[in-house]
Amino acid sequence: MTKEKIRDLVSQMTLEEKAGMCSGADFWHLKGVERLGIPSVMVTDGPHGLRKQAEAADHLGINESEKAVCFPAGCATASSFDRDILRKLGETIGQECQAMGVSTILGPAMNIKRSPLCGRNFEYYSEDPYVASELAASMIQGVQSKNVGTSAKHFLANNQEKRRMTSSSDVDERSLREIYLSAFEGAVKKGKPWTVMNSYNRINGKYVGESKEYLTDILRNEWGFDGYVVSDWGAVNDRVEGLKAGLDLEMPSSGGMNDALIVEAVKEGTLDECVVDTACERIIDIIFRYAENRDPDAKLDLQKDHETAAAIEEECIVLLKNEDNILPLPKEKKVAFIGKYAESPRYQGGGSSHINSWKVESALEAVKEIAEVTYAKGYDDAEDKTDEALLIEAVKTAEEADVAVIFAGLPDNFESEGYDRKHLNMPDCQNTLIEKVTEVQKNVIVVLHNGSPVLMPWKDKVKGIVEAYLGGQAVGRAVVNILYGKVNPSGRLPETFPARLEDTPCYLTYGKGGDHAVYQEGVFVGYRYYTSVGREVLFPFGYGLSYTDFTYSDLKLDKEKMTDQDTLTVTVKVKNTGSRKGKEVVQLYVSPAAGETIRPVSELRGFEKIELESEQEKEVTFILDMRAFAYWNEEIHDWYVESGEYQIQIGKNSQEIVLSVPVQVQGTTELPKVYTLNSCLGPMMRDPKAQAVLGAFMGTMSEHTEVEEMQKQQEQQAESPDAAVSGEMLAAMMEDMPLRQLLSFVPGVTRQMLRQLVDALNEQAV
Ligand code: BGC
Repeated sequence: MTKEKIRDLVSQMTLEEKAGMCSGADFWHLKGVERLGIPSVMVTDGPHGLRKQAEAADHLGINESEKAVCFPAGCATASSFDRDILRKLGETIGQECQAMGVSTILGPAMNIKRSPLCGRNFEYYSEDPYVASELAASMIQGVQSKNVGTSAKHFLANNQEKRRMTSSSDVDERSLREIYLSAFEGAVKKGKPWTVMNSYNRINGKYVGESKEYLTDILRNEWGFDGYVVSDWGAVNDRVEGLKAGLDLEMPSSGGMNDALIVEAVKEGTLDECVVDTACERIIDIIFRYAENRDPDAKLDLQKDHETAAAIEEECIVLLKNEDNILPLPKEKKVAFIGKYAESPRYQGGGSSHINSWKVESALEAVKEIAEVTYAKGYDDAEDKTDEALLIEAVKTAEEADVAVIFAGLPDNFESEGYDRKHLNMPDCQNTLIEKVTEVQKNVIVVLHNGSPVLMPWKDKVKGIVEAYLGGQAVGRAVVNILYGKVNPSGRLPETFPARLEDTPCYLTYGKGGDHAVYQEGVFVGYRYYTSVGREVLFPFGYGLSYTDFTYSDLKLDKEKMTDQDTLTVTVKVKNTGSRKGKEVVQLYVSPAAGETIRPVSELRGFEKIELESEQEKEVTFILDMRAFAYWNEEIHDWYVESGEYQIQIGKNSQEIVLSVPVQVQGTTELPKVYTLNSCLGPMMRDPKAQAVLGAFMGTMSEHTEVEEMQKQQEQQAESPDAAVSGEMLAAMMEDMPLRQLLSFVPGVTRQMLRQLVDALNEQAV
């Protein structure tokens, strides 16, 4: 519908109708205006399948919803590192929405995994904003290609479940820009979501839902978002303030209470009616984007979508360990499947994303098509207690086989929306089972079903580890296809698996501080921290094995020098040197020059997933722009590139860089300089303009000054390095000497003269 038409519709609405449009009709529907032909449309959770509730509605996944296909959760799909897979997922869900009459799916959820303890990490993508935003953008594009909306959520800095409705994320501007906003920025600019969902929390004391800075200045004005902002369910504090800030739609219905406040505010003159009009225009625009593009042929094909769910999960599974090439399993081997999750996998998380799955395909069921296996339940995860009878039976079953595959992970109550984890342990009963089985069986493989990292005290005692994450209702099929080599694993970890909880960057602050979550670790989130401090981890970000091998060569840049206004084309050759077809995730990191600014040692700036036949080689190209080198400078409130040498690195993961070449980058933005008596000589001597002013000043001093003396000595002693004070030492001493010190070292200099010098320096700096 054209903008004019929409404006015309809004002009025909009464103030009461307009205020009403700004909140839901009920839990899942927006209001329509029948007399004007504006339909009431439905929105539904999200994000990895449809939770379409017909009757008793709730936002915690408690009541039943219509049967639908449960696809792999965000933790899994991000491991694919594959934009096409996310697009495919989006298209499939979009098609289901068309078939089920859902106008917008509430997702993707793309918050940064600040700590592995966040109860909702299973829904989120990554600890890295580039991965999160790229994959979210593809998912958004996929859904919206079916003329169904998405809701990019939860905007912004909503990284914990603890006190999620009241807590304030106390975070500095730079970390917000580089990490937390950045995850959304790419998704909004590239994916163009129809809607964005604001989060419950506050940022630096202010509710996101009342922040004009985030909802309007950044989201709309800077990034070009053109849909409507919807509140997370109940994330409205002050409705009128929210509306002014850019929160267009309140969900669910406030029962008319907040609509009345809007009407009152307009009548009292504290709210401009134009603000209400604009919100209505945005909401109506999105309603019609869907309503005018209904697909009359859309049908729900649950079996087909189940197959798609399996195919997607196959691209997501991460092979973490494969000693002695224990995997893939030959069909002839006598294999025992051990553990309850082989029979009833944990494949999705709890809360608002919980889907009433149409069916669940377990590994035990799927394996029947390929091989015969024995099975023992091993544990019951209803409560974390070892069941001796189950344990004895499992150990015996494992002992009698050639290989034992143990299906383990986290039970539902260990991680969920609504609360955070307290530790990274798997249930004791499962760890005990694994230990006991390794005592009788040397060929043990552990398949993990979990939404976030776990500790693996048994890591060295098992030969294989397969991370299936929460892989959706067809996870069993996908796991079996990986175990038996029908599919070559190609997932990579989109997050670090730390060795200890104490090693995590926000360990000291996470979950503490009452209503104030202090983001003290700044930009050092995830691998940015571990690589910068050289911390050993269980498995690094970007890690994952394959049944084949890849080698890298010929890392080339199209230029050795550039300015931050140029783009840099990077090429690298990747060869499959193993004997079977496989997929590799080529990861590009940029390591900044060692400048004054505190920065992570390297940051992911590109990734591509490619498929290679055995012996095949392909060249992969990346194009980098200024953002690959920039950091957010709080002085100028903008992206800024420091001049210097940067390393362009290709890594197999964040801790294994295989190729690196330097590029010289010249920044083109000058930072404002303000000189004071405390400005130091070193930086001044390196700045030609400042040096000229300083030189002129020194020239006016007739006598030999101590500074000049020091300079002279420096030159002389550079030639005699054995002297007590070397030239290098003198240079270092002068580097940090403030102008103020000239009072002591230069006879005849007065405070008045120094003030004039400072004025002259500041004059040339503008
Ligand atoms: C969740 C959202 C969800 C909404 C509706 C909220 O509690 O945070 O992600 O979309 O409920 O169920």
